[in-house]
Amino acid sequence: MAVSGSSFQVLTADEVVVHLKALRSRQPVNYWAFYSSQLGGIVTDPALMVLPFDDHMVHRGHGIFDTAGLVDGRIYDLEAHLDRFLLSAERSKLRLPGSRDDMRDIIVKTTAASGRRDGSIRYWLSSGPGSLELTPAAGAEPGFFVMVFGGLSYPERWYAEGLKVMTTTYPIKAPLYAITKATNYLPNVLMQMEAKAAGLDNGVFIDEDGNVGESSNMNVAFVTRNGVLAHPKFDHILAGCTSLRLLELAESLRQQGVIKGIEVRDIPVAEARLCREMLLLGSSVKVAPIVQWDDQVIGDGKPGPVFNALLRLLEDDMRKGDRLIAVPY
Ligand SMILES: Cc1ncc(COP(=O)(O)O)c(C=O)c1O
Repeated sequence: MAVSGSSFQVLTADEVVVHLKALRSRQPVNYWAFYSSQLGGIVTDPALMVLPFDDHMVHRGHGIFDTAGLVDGRIYDLEAHLDRFLLSAERSKLRLPGSRDDMRDIIVKTTAASGRRDGSIRYWLSSGPGSLELTPAAGAEPGFFVMVFGGLSYPERWYAEGLKVMTTTYPIKAPLYAITKATNYLPNVLMQMEAKAAGLDNGVFIDEDGNVGESSNMNVAFVTRNGVLAHPKFDHILAGCTSLRLLELAESLRQQGVIKGIEVRDIPVAEARLCREMLLLGSSVKVAPIVQWDDQVIGDGKPGPVFNALLRLLEDDMRKGDRLIAVPY
């Protein structure tokens, strides 16, 4: 509903719920279950998945988040995502609402309450409501929120034909902010909007020294001209759980001779542009091939063999690996 003079009414609580439901009916969403420490429980009606406006995560971006995948009734690699969540909390000076075990338990129970077997689980930590100041309100209680939802989906074309990306004109985040998964995603949002406006699929951040950084919500990796799987160092980009896992799983490809080696190092743009394959890696995209970067066609302009092999390794790990938590539906 657009803002207009006739919308100036003082609403009752019941009317607020009616309006929230109307909002959701205008814009259906795939949100299946939401836990809020502020509500003290789980709701399954998307109209009720709300936060107080003065929560510090809303008005100052003082919050962190992470996302794990739900695959065939099991949660994939949750411990790695929780490790990163706790690191992000510490760097953001956010108090935890309970122990790691408590948070894991809430994540698993909210997933069970969703009844869904496939999707994504995103969870947030905020410093809580209570004022509109810069620093958290006195006595603010940390907020913990868990959303079980349909996940981000990407066009089949990305995997069959490959993506086209551009070097973003937006500056990369300073290392402290890039390695912390905080809710401040303005550069990432602007980068993706810029790429879409240019008719492309995504952007790539380059650091001040001319090395490759990462993409909007995904890491970037390469197969170099001499067949090495090369990934940028994690000191100035997010340590993607997918990247870290694939760097381990790729050892089997090295043994089979599919790749010649695995390197985590600075990757100068000039070298990267001449690679055989360029890849996007992330929990939502899994592994996707990039076939064009600015004016440069990557490799032979088609998805390559290492893309295929890595995607297969990841999908196997997500279904049959040893990093799965069964959801007690
Ligand atoms: C900025 C950024 N880089 C990389 C990634 C990939 O991380 P992951 O593999 O844990 O999804 C994400 C997604 O979480 C991200 O937001």
